[in-house]
Amino acid sequence: MTESQSQQISSSAEEIARHKLIHILQMAYSGEKAATMAYAGHWRSLKAGTERDTIKRIEKEEIEHRQAVGRMLVMLNAGPAWWREILMSAIGTVAAVGCFFSGWFFPMYFAGKLENDNVREYDVAAGYAHTIKLDEFLPQLHEMSRTESEHELFFSSCVANHWMLKPAIKIFGWDPLLVIESHKLAALD
Ligand SMILES: [Fe+2]
Ligand SMILES: [Fe+2]
Repeated sequence: MTESQSQQISSSAEEIARHKLIHILQMAYSGEKAATMAYAGHWRSLKAGTERDTIKRIEKEEIEHRQAVGRMLVMLNAGPAWWREILMSAIGTVAAVGCFFSGWFFPMYFAGKLENDNVREYDVAAGYAHTIKLDEFLPQLHEMSRTESEHELFFSSCVANHWMLKPAIKIFGWDPLLVIESHKLAALD
């Protein structure tokens, strides 16, 4: 293979990684909006206490994530996907209102499930950022992934002993007990 052929391959690989990074950041940017809106409803639906205070703090952290992801999109000469913004605003509104009617368990369970997806999202984004030599993104992406992991553990711990957990795992598939186990194992490393 000639030098120019290998340069062509690496530049097209970088172009693909750049597109994938922009896409994942656009999804995350709007996802953070839905999370922020849902948590704003969630903590307001709870009685005063540790759970309410923690979810209020998590809401603030999601706002900071959205701002950070927005700055990354600007640096990539990109912006939000407007269709996704509209969709996630609608989902966030439904989730926020739903927290007042769906009881204690489901908002906690689905918040944990959502956080579980977010942890991987920022790690995958970090991989693409590294491919296109945007290593300045990495500390913040890894930090956000760590924060999502803490959120995931919080919501997992909340529902761990609830009687509705077993049927929820059967129906929706996500098992918070595995999350708690993996955090325990990571702490031993
Ligand atoms: Fe977040
Ligand atoms: Fe989160």
